[in-house]
Amino acid sequence: MLVVFLGPPGAGKGTQAGRLSAKYGLPQVSTGDMLREAVAAGSELGRRVQSIMDAGELVDDATMEAVVEERLRQPDAHGGAIMDGYPRTRVQAESFERLLASGRHGAVDLVLFLEVAEETLVQRLSHRRACSQCNANYHLEFKPPATGGTCDRCGGTLVQREDDREEVVRDRLAVYRTATQPLVSYYRTRGLLYEIDGAGSIDEVFSRADAAMAGAVSA
Ligand code: AP5
Repeated sequence: MLVVFLGPPGAGKGTQAGRLSAKYGLPQVSTGDMLREAVAAGSELGRRVQSIMDAGELVDDATMEAVVEERLRQPDAHGGAIMDGYPRTRVQAESFERLLASGRHGAVDLVLFLEVAEETLVQRLSHRRACSQCNANYHLEFKPPATGGTCDRCGGTLVQREDDREEVVRDRLAVYRTATQPLVSYYRTRGLLYEIDGAGSIDEVFSRADAAMAGAVSA
């Protein structure tokens, strides 16, 4: 099963994709996490994308296509995946269709679109903290770590992402509106879009996403 999360920065894509991944046994394919890992490792890819990410701009489509194609070839993704952050341009959506059609996955089964008001997005992102070692995500108010500034999972130091500074968040939202929001109608016309109210607690949003997922699994 191939599921795509769509929604603006801070909508909760990563949070909900992680929970659905654990429940349904499908890998969470987070392009943002993969790029941040490349930056942390100092690889050629990481050096190329760091300043683009820090500025809140999108990495070019050809690079992203290659990253995703390689990831979906891994054995854990043979049965499907939950896409968190890809596709996010029309070019990516079209090339993703071709990639899926040429391989074992076939096609996208479900697109979960998280809708959240802009003030809430800014609030969520400005209070997000991420583990510098394992990328686990926290929120200072809604999902705080058990002990101060360290990660519950691995003990790593929690940091604020460079692109979570408020001025960069505003730029990311503008990029989202121009480049990614058109995918809402793209997937709606294909009958794949499931709109989810992303307001409310993490548990409340999860039960909505889970209901959509369960419906698609049993269809
Ligand atoms: P990426 O990491 O994908 O960033 P994003 O799409 O902007 O999404 P975020 O991770 O900021 O938000 P989210 O929706 O996952 O929210 P989260 O669950 O963390 O991409 C980063 C960069 O990489 C891009 O800007 C670009 O440069 C590059 N990139 C990646 N993919 C690309 C692609 N395909 N093409 C080109 N470039 C690409 O939640 C946010 C916070 O809110 C957390 O603190 C969380 O704990 C909290 N929270 C979540 N849900 C709730 C809730 N219901 N109530 C209260 N708090 C909540």
